[in-house]
Amino acid sequence: MNIQQISSVPFSDQKPGTSGLRKKVKVFQTAHYLENFLQAIFNVATDLKGGILILGGDGRYYNTEAIQTILKMAVAHGISHIKVGQNGLLSTPAVSHLIRKYSAAGGIILSASHNPGGPEGDFGIKFNSANGGPAETKFTDHVYAESQHITTYQLAEIDNVSLQTQGQFQLGDTLVEIIDPVSDYADLMEQIFDFAKIKALFKSGLLSICFDAMHAVTGPYANEIFQRRLNAAVGSVINSIPQEDFGGGHPDPNLIYAKELVERLNQGKDAPNLGAASDGDGDRYMLIGRNFFVNPSDCLAIMTANAHLLSGYQLGLSGVARSLPTSRAVDKVAETLGIECYETPTGWKYFGNLLDDRRITLCGEESFGGGSDHIREKDGIWAVLFWLNLVTIKHQSVEEITRAHWARFGRHYYSRHDYEGLDSSVAEQLMDGLRKRIETLKGETFAGHTVSDCDDFSYTDPVDHSVTEHQGIRILFQDESRIVFRLSGTGTEGATLRVYLERYEADSALHDLDTQVALADMISIARELAELKTRCDREQPDIIT
Ligand code: G1P
Ligand code: ZN
Repeated sequence: MNIQQISSVPFSDQKPGTSGLRKKVKVFQTAHYLENFLQAIFNVATDLKGGILILGGDGRYYNTEAIQTILKMAVAHGISHIKVGQNGLLSTPAVSHLIRKYSAAGGIILSASHNPGGPEGDFGIKFNSANGGPAETKFTDHVYAESQHITTYQLAEIDNVSLQTQGQFQLGDTLVEIIDPVSDYADLMEQIFDFAKIKALFKSGLLSICFDAMHAVTGPYANEIFQRRLNAAVGSVINSIPQEDFGGGHPDPNLIYAKELVERLNQGKDAPNLGAASDGDGDRYMLIGRNFFVNPSDCLAIMTANAHLLSGYQLGLSGVARSLPTSRAVDKVAETLGIECYETPTGWKYFGNLLDDRRITLCGEESFGGGSDHIREKDGIWAVLFWLNLVTIKHQSVEEITRAHWARFGRHYYSRHDYEGLDSSVAEQLMDGLRKRIETLKGETFAGHTVSDCDDFSYTDPVDHSVTEHQGIRILFQDESRIVFRLSGTGTEGATLRVYLERYEADSALHDLDTQVALADMISIARELAELKTRCDREQPDIIT
């Protein structure tokens, strides 16, 4: 087989962000762009040679083209065995599981997560390491450095491989295997959760679900798990056929984009008991009850408080972790349980070391992410199954479980305000402005709230002692309120400022306030501190979550 050496020149913008390299489809379609980045990965991930590679994506536009290119380059680089999801599909959690199950050297996931797809939309590449988790910063930094020196890349001269049917092909020294994307993952879920119990409740008619796959990758997974293995009623999974443009929608599981789901859950007593949606690549989830939204930070806290009730977690939790901007609801639970609660920078990669070192069992992010030690990624369907199992054991609704939790631990009112499409230099100046104020903020009082602490969050990994700096400005108040400012690392245009607002309320008589009303003081303090009006001429955020 002929291996072509193709000349190229470096692209200056191939630095991976919070979650791999994410760009407009058009950018990835630029001649040599994808190949250069892949060559940089192959240069760094030398263990792939002679090893197993897991490959798949969320089905968005450009997924299958990219897979064909990756196959040609992987064959050229002597990968011995490549497992590719049928039709090019694999959810992010499934890739993580497959890497671990088959002791693969790594995995390549093609996705831009919850960003829109289609020719005008976004595309992305993530590399996951042998532990199943997103590559660490030192790996992605190395890939970026390599990308700046690419002069050639290698491509095997082979035909496109048919991805439609399961089977195996020997291409030179490489075995390419087209696998069922769902079965291994579904088997894992069956080991963790009490499928017999959940199935019985579905059968009795006492339990019902609506799962919105948003025309993204989780459709086939949800059909198999909820409808086939758990016997949920036919029609329980909606928008279940993956489409290249996600049916024109935005595969972001929130109250705005999962509109059909929200309507179904608001149909009074005829509504399903539990509603859920997942994102493009299946790692995020939103959970709702009838007319009731549970914020992801509360989800993590509720899971932590109740995990011991589930057979899969009956031995208890070694510890928990949350990302910096995630509310501190889980901290209260960890304190009561007497377990460690770690605060990490944004992005799933920081949880990997804690999980590998068995310091934590559960972890989560405010951005609709939750997961456990079963894999090294966040996992949308796992989270929904966790809740189904919990509802089955407690015989309580989603709302009842959440309210009981607040009554016991207090409620953390929480919201994220996003200011999108800011000029990047203006956004950097705004963050610099905040950084400059850090020194003097402590002790100052705003609208009756006194600042108890303030810093630019820096994280020292307790396992490998690596230090990650400048992860967000964190302002803590004496009354346990908190504001965090940071810039998004996943955007593809301009800069996005994220402002995370939080207020703790112990009194259950005050657990029914509107979230934005409850946070009104923090909202105005944040605007004043960041000088949003003068610096960006913005009065209101673009998105409130
Ligand atoms: C966002 C979320 C973060 C998540 C990441 C990847 O990153 O905030 O929690 O891990 O997407 O899904 P950001 O755009 O804020 O850098
Ligand atoms: Zn995602």
